[in-house]
Amino acid sequence: MLSRKRRKRGAKVSATYANRAFSEPIPKYEIPNNGIGPDVAYQLIHDEMNLDGNPFLNLASFVTTWMEPQAEKLIMETINKNLVDQEEYPQTGVIQERVVNMLAKLFNAPEKNDYVGTSTIGSSEAIMLGLLAHKWSWRKRREKEGKDTTKPNLVVGADVHVVWEKFAKYFDVELRLVPMEHGRYTMDVEMTKELIDENTICVGAVLGTTFTGQIDPIKEINEMLVDLKSAKGLDIPIHVDAASGGFIVPFLYPNMEWDFRLNQVKSINVSGHKYGLVYPGVGWLIFKDKEFLPEDLIFYVNYLGSEEATYTLNFSRNSAMVIAQYYNMLRLGKSGYKAIMKTCMENAKYVAKEIRKMSVFKLTHEDLKLPVVTFYSIDNEISVYEVSRKLRERDWIVPAYNLPKNAEDMHILRVVVKENFSRDMADMLIGDLKRAVDTIKGECIVRAPQKKKSSQIHNKIC
Ligand SMILES: Cc1ncc(COP(=O)(O)O)c(C=O)c1O
Repeated sequence: MLSRKRRKRGAKVSATYANRAFSEPIPKYEIPNNGIGPDVAYQLIHDEMNLDGNPFLNLASFVTTWMEPQAEKLIMETINKNLVDQEEYPQTGVIQERVVNMLAKLFNAPEKNDYVGTSTIGSSEAIMLGLLAHKWSWRKRREKEGKDTTKPNLVVGADVHVVWEKFAKYFDVELRLVPMEHGRYTMDVEMTKELIDENTICVGAVLGTTFTGQIDPIKEINEMLVDLKSAKGLDIPIHVDAASGGFIVPFLYPNMEWDFRLNQVKSINVSGHKYGLVYPGVGWLIFKDKEFLPEDLIFYVNYLGSEEATYTLNFSRNSAMVIAQYYNMLRLGKSGYKAIMKTCMENAKYVAKEIRKMSVFKLTHEDLKLPVVTFYSIDNEISVYEVSRKLRERDWIVPAYNLPKNAEDMHILRVVVKENFSRDMADMLIGDLKRAVDTIKGECIVRAPQKKKSSQIHNKIC
C-alpha cells in the first residue's frame, strides 16, 4: 500500500501524453497567453513533424540528409556561435578561411595561399554575390571607357536554377537565355556566342544542372570566349555554378577541365550542403583571384592582428555548418570524398540500368556524370505525375516536372542518389516503381491476401 505522502506525490505525476495540453486546442497563429512544459512542447511539435516526408526517402532534394554523429556533436557545440561575430569567435573565421583555401585549390586556382572567397547560406547567395562582383567590374570598366552602363546583360542556358533569374530581376540585369531543344538540355556554344555583346557582364555555366544533372560544355564555352577576346577585345568572365558538381567532378573526373584551369572562369560557387555532405545552410563562393572581387564590395573586419575580407548578403547565421564542412574535409579527405561519390555513382548507374530495362521509360541522357537519374515515359504512355504520386504512397519522394521552354513537353522524373541511398534501397525503389507503373496501367488488381496456395493466385497482388 502506498503511504499518504507517496500517494500525494504520485497524483501530481502525469505522463507527457496525459498532459492537459494534449486535450486542448493549440493556438496556431498567435502566441499563447501561457506556456507549457518543455517535454510537452517538445512532444507536440515532434509529433506534428511526423507529417513531413521522410528525409531518408527524399530523392527529390540534392541536400544532405545524413551526417556522422561526431559531426552532429560539433554542430550542436557551435550552433550558438554567430558566424559574423569574428571578433568574438576568431577561430571560426580562421576555419572558414581554411575551407576557402581548400576549395580554391580543389578547383585548381593559381598557386598561392590567400584565396578570396566566402561561405554563404547556400549556392543561391554565392551566385548572387559572384554575379554582383561581375556586374560591378563590368560597370567600372565601362565607366572608365566613358561608355553606357545602363544595359547590363547576363548570358546563361535555360538549364539554370531559378536563382539566376532571381539575380537578374533583383539586380536589374537583362537575362539572355540560350534555349534548350529536344535531346539537348544544356547550353549550345554557338547560340551562346550570338547572345553576347559588350554589355555582357558574365556567362553562366552549370556543372550539374538542376533539371537533368548534366554538365554544360564549359570548356568549349571558354574556348569560344578566348577567341572572342582576341577577335573583338571582349573579355567576358565565366561564373560556374558548381552547386552539385563541385564536390563530385574534382574527385571522380580530375582531368575534366571546367574550373580555374580555364582562362575565363573567374568565379565558382558550390553547395556545401549538397555533395559537400553537410546539412542545409552552407554554400561557398570562390574567386580565381582578388582582382575579380571589386574592392568597394569588400568589408574589412579586423581580428587576430590581420585583416579579414568579408563579402556576404546575409549578416547573422550560425557557424555550425561551416565547422561541419571543415569536419568533413578533415574526416574524409580527398580519398573519402572520392569513395563516397564513387558509391553514389555506382548506385545511380544501377538505378539507371534498371529503369532502362522497363519498357515504359527512357532516360533523358545516357552519359551519367553525376548521380542524378532523370527519365520520362515513352510517348507519354503514363503520367509521370501519377507515378510520383504513387511512389509517395510508399513514402518515396521522387519529383515530376517539365523542362523549360522549347522542351516543355518533356515531363520527367528525377532521382537524386545521395550517400545514404544503398543498393538495397535502390532495389526497393525499383520494385515500387514497377508496381506503380503496373497499377497505373491497370494491370494490377488490389485485393486482400487469400488463404490459397500462391500458385492459385493468378492476379498480381500490389
Ligand atoms: C545548379 C544549382 N544551382 C543553384 C542551386 C541553389 O542552391 P542552394 O539551394 O544551395 O541555394 C541549386 C539547387 O538545387 C542547383 O541545383
